[in-house]
Amino acid sequence: MIDIHTHILPGMDDGSVSIEESIGMARMAAESGVSILVATPHCNLTGVFDNYYSSNFENRLITLRKVLQKEQIPIEILPGMEVYGTEEVPNLLRKGRLITLNHSRYLLMEFSFREDLLLTEYLIHEVKGLGYLPIIAHPERYPYVQKHPGIVYDWIQQGCLIQLNKGSILGSFGTRTRNTAIALLECNLVSVIASDAHSSARRTTDLTMIREFIENNFSKEYAEILLAENPRRVIENTDLIVPYNTCQARYI
Ligand SMILES: [Fe+2]
Repeated sequence: MIDIHTHILPGMDDGSVSIEESIGMARMAAESGVSILVATPHCNLTGVFDNYYSSNFENRLITLRKVLQKEQIPIEILPGMEVYGTEEVPNLLRKGRLITLNHSRYLLMEFSFREDLLLTEYLIHEVKGLGYLPIIAHPERYPYVQKHPGIVYDWIQQGCLIQLNKGSILGSFGTRTRNTAIALLECNLVSVIASDAHSSARRTTDLTMIREFIENNFSKEYAEILLAENPRRVIENTDLIVPYNTCQARYI
């Protein structure tokens, strides 16, 4: 499996707090059958987690790779960011201050928990105009999406792809988030599931349970597309499989 959304770079945001924690997260991922993690620290959260692309960013990535090699943990770490949606995003992209997932066309984006559909529509339009494809991180967590899940369909019509968090599907963020996640899965609106891991204790990199859940309640094929095939296509910068008509939803 390949996990395209993790906060494994130590000391950059509210994710891993130390190199030891990052080692634990990588080990846990490997043990659950993950071979590649994309490191996606929060960025463009002004004054909280700026984390714009820089040599410091690259150096932290290189350091983590070296440590994992020394520890003999078979995990590859690739560069990425979870970009917070503000009006500045198009300009920051032009200036090279934001990066996509493994420098592909796919930009992982999160939005405010407060509804601002005009801004999201503007951002999707602008980001696409620059030649990128937005992957919207965990839309199921936004209260306005929980109220009107059809918003996700509109975002897809505008050219976005959808990434759900494993914890949302498994119930870690409450019933509303879970029900929304399941509904989106049942409607085949999801392209990727990722861990959005923040540590090795809670919100972890372990994908065992989510793989089993999707296999048992949907299908093995659906699990493979969401946890392995589409994430691979993201980091290889090729077209994703749109999973229409591939799943037999049995979840009640
Ligand atoms: Fe995240």
